[in-house]
Amino acid sequence: MSFTITPVKEHIGAIVRIDDKAHLLDDDLIAACRAALETAGVLVFPQLNLTDKEQLAFTDKFGERVNFSKTVPGGKDADEADVYKITLDKKVNTEPDYVLGTFFWHMDGVTIDQPLPKATFLSARKLSATGGQTEFASTIAAYEGLSEARKAEIADLKVIHRMEASMRPIHHTEIPDERLNRYRSMAVEMVHPLVWTQPDGRKSLVLGTHADEVIGMPLATGRSLLARLSEWAAQPAYSYSHEWQEGDFVIWNNCGVMHRVVPYEDDSGRSMHRTTIMGTERLGRPLKELQAA
Ligand code: OGA
Ligand code: MN
Repeated sequence: MSFTITPVKEHIGAIVRIDDKAHLLDDDLIAACRAALETAGVLVFPQLNLTDKEQLAFTDKFGERVNFSKTVPGGKDADEADVYKITLDKKVNTEPDYVLGTFFWHMDGVTIDQPLPKATFLSARKLSATGGQTEFASTIAAYEGLSEARKAEIADLKVIHRMEASMRPIHHTEIPDERLNRYRSMAVEMVHPLVWTQPDGRKSLVLGTHADEVIGMPLATGRSLLARLSEWAAQPAYSYSHEWQEGDFVIWNNCGVMHRVVPYEDDSGRSMHRTTIMGTERLGRPLKELQAA
């Protein structure tokens, strides 16, 4: 056996230990990781110290590489194309918004009109002295744990997701026009089902700060429902907080977990290298398309 996969908690998290990094692309390891990603949601490979090239090779073996971050700082100045540098370092990142937005619960790529990214892969290159833990919450376990009455109540709800909603927490009372225009030019208002039936039949909740409005509900009622469901999903039984070591490689099922990072300072030096793979299901539709129909 060249690797082991050990669960962290009943509902979320597993540690993958490989005896030799040279085995990272072995078919049996990839197959086992794909299966574990479905059951555990988050896989931690301690101190793997991948180069960008190695991370891309693993990413490509796992699925179809996608880059939806090309237009933001960090998206084009990595050594390798399709590797996005997540950092608040002002020398690399002149537009910190998108990284500050990661301080709040979200799923990646929800406000882009494309299949929801299946998985995100993150290598820790440099850590911050304080904060910087990444937290994950299983939106599959959270759905399964709801009462039957609650499940029935939310079964058919549709939610409008907006990038500007995920950016509201990082601005004072109003988002400056220049920023608002930028968000609107980069993203699409998307309508997604609140309850998503996954290809394997399991159901999950589609949640995050980008979830802005429940269609057919008064604004405050809908937002309260979304906030309550997020709090529910974030309870300890369904969530895992990763305390990074330099070189750790963590991958998560973006379709079955939401995530956020504990705040860190912009001069902390924290730097993470991210790659992403495409999903297969076009979950929602642009609001505009639905309004035109
Ligand atoms: C991301 C993200 C969290 C982190 O890359 O999409 O949310 O810990 N990152 O930097
Ligand atoms: Mn993210």
